Amino acid sequence: MRNTYSIGVIGGDGIGPEVTRAALSVLDAAEQRFGFGTKRDELPWSSQRYLETGERVTRAMIEELRRFDAILLGAIGHPDAPRGMIERDILIGARIGLDLYVNLRPIVLYDERLCPLKGKRREDIDFLVVRENTEDVYVNTGTITGEGPDQKARVEMSFTRRGIERIIRYAYGRAQARPRKRLTLVDKANAIQIQSLWRDILEEVGAEYPDVERDAIYVDAATMWFVQHPERFDTIVTTNLFGDIITDLGAAIVGGLGVSASGNIRPGETSMFEPIHGSAPKYAGQDVASPLGAIGAVALMLEHLGERDAAASIERAIAEGLRSGRIPGIEAGSAPTSAVARTVAAAI
Ligand code: IPM
Ligand code: MG
Repeated sequence: MRNTYSIGVIGGDGIGPEVTRAALSVLDAAEQRFGFGTKRDELPWSSQRYLETGERVTRAMIEELRRFDAILLGAIGHPDAPRGMIERDILIGARIGLDLYVNLRPIVLYDERLCPLKGKRREDIDFLVVRENTEDVYVNTGTITGEGPDQKARVEMSFTRRGIERIIRYAYGRAQARPRKRLTLVDKANAIQIQSLWRDILEEVGAEYPDVERDAIYVDAATMWFVQHPERFDTIVTTNLFGDIITDLGAAIVGGLGVSASGNIRPGETSMFEPIHGSAPKYAGQDVASPLGAIGAVALMLEHLGERDAAASIERAIAEGLRSGRIPGIEAGSAPTSAVARTVAAAI
């Protein structure tokens, strides 16, 4: 029997719709080659729509996303919308509203020429960042109170044992499935002492995974290691805020935001997949943005849905395209968005 998956598509703002379109054409090719199907529903959610109609995405609308097997998202963000408002409604809204507690961000160097670091080879950069996706300073909006020099801005950084345990357990599972079986916790437990709870739980849960080697480093040191010795990393688990920051750096060391993808995952349930990049308004509508992040998001989505062969074939097509030069680059303007998608689709 042919599997058919129900997919919600949110193109969003800026380059979001065009990279999503390109990624869906690769999904078409994967469906033909591997014999599964999708039923796609487009949701017109964006900052653009808010600016035109005043409509916001509510908690109840987020709840309705549960009817899909997966959601593919392009990008959210518009310079004229109130800063961060629509991102909070849709992106953070879905992550927290659907309890998508894993933010999975693979950092893979597809080809040496994409790497800005001196002397690093392909095999030196291939690691997985598992970012906690539902807690930390992302939960509350905080307050600014008082007047003049007495103004005070506050927001709480909070973690729960339940939240830490489940992300650390997920990360151990991922690390165990990789050849090097090594898990590194990235935190700031020296200055932010409450983060010692992460260290305790790393040890406790680690007892269930005796074959996984574990260590813990501070986030400031981690940024240095990313640049000097990226080969030291295999699987990283980290807090929501630090995960946000280090994955932009991770994307940069493999060539920039144009190639990295991420999954907002709740194992076994509706999950949401997106490129790491944002809406890049200055490139919108010109067919110049790299669709590889969005295409990589389709691969992560297919892995989540259980279509592993299709996911692997998309990954391979991206890697071979970049290595052979058939995909000339990942900087905006290095190749037309639609042409890159055709190259990947043809390789599948
Ligand atoms: C990301 C983004 C978001 C985040 C922003 C747009 C709210 O930077 O997905 O990494 O901080 O998580
Ligand atoms: Mg970010």
